[in-house]
Amino acid sequence: MDKILIEKTIAFVKEKLKDAEGGHDWFHIERVYNNAMNIAKDENCNITIVALGALLHDIADSKFHGGDETIGPKLAWEFLESQNVPEETIIHVVNIIENISFKGGNFERKFSSIELDVVQDADRLDAIGAIGIARAFNYGGFKNRALYDPTIAPNMNMSKEEYKSAVSPTINHFYEKLLLLKDRMNTQAGKQIAEERHTYMEKFLEQFFAECEGKR
Ligand code: ADP
Ligand code: NI
Repeated sequence: MDKILIEKTIAFVKEKLKDAEGGHDWFHIERVYNNAMNIAKDENCNITIVALGALLHDIADSKFHGGDETIGPKLAWEFLESQNVPEETIIHVVNIIENISFKGGNFERKFSSIELDVVQDADRLDAIGAIGIARAFNYGGFKNRALYDPTIAPNMNMSKEEYKSAVSPTINHFYEKLLLLKDRMNTQAGKQIAEERHTYMEKFLEQFFAECEGKR
C-alpha cells in the first residue's frame, strides 16, 4: 500500500468534509475505511485502490450538492491527478465512487471489481447496526422528519408513489432499506458482520415498537 498517498488522501478528505453533516462526516469515512481494510484481508484485491475508494467515496455526496452526481468523481479525479497517481488507478477509483451506491436489484451495476465489492460492503455496514440506527435518526433530524408516525405504516406494502408523497418517518427507512442490506452484501466477511448488525437492528425495532405501544 502507498502509505504517503493514503496519508495525503486522508488529509484532503478531512479538510473537504470539515463542515459535513454527522452521518457523512470524516468519522463515517474513517469507519468505512476501517471496515474496508478489515474485509479486504480475506480478499484478493488491490489494497491501495480499496483504501482510495473508501476514503474518497463520499467526497461530495449528491444529496448535499443539489443532486449533482458529477462533483464527487470530478474532485477525486483532480486530487488523484495532482498526486501523480497512474491514470489506470484513477479510473478504477472513480468507477468505485460512481457505482458504490447503486440501489441493488433495480438495475445492473455498470462496473464491477472486487475492490468495488469490498468498499460497497464497508459502506453498507456503516448503514446498519448501532451506527446505522444513529445515522438514520440523524439524517431524519436533518430532514426534520418524524421519528415514528403510526398513521404512516412502516412496512413495504405502500406503493413507491405513496411513500414519496408521504414523507416517511425515519423508522420506515429501516423497512425501505436498512433491513434489506444484509442480503445484498458481496463478500463473506461482509455478510457475516452484516448478520450480526441486522440481528441488533431487529432487536432495536422490537423494543422500539413495544415502547411506542407502552408495552415495555
Ligand atoms: P452512503 O452515503 O453511506 O452511501 P446514503 O447516502 O444512502 O448512504 O445514506 C447515508 C445515511 O443516511 C445512511 O445511514 C442512511 O441510512 C441514512 N439515510 C438515507 N436516507 C434516509 C432516510 N430517508 N431516512 C433516514 N435515514 C436515511
Ligand atoms: Ni458512505
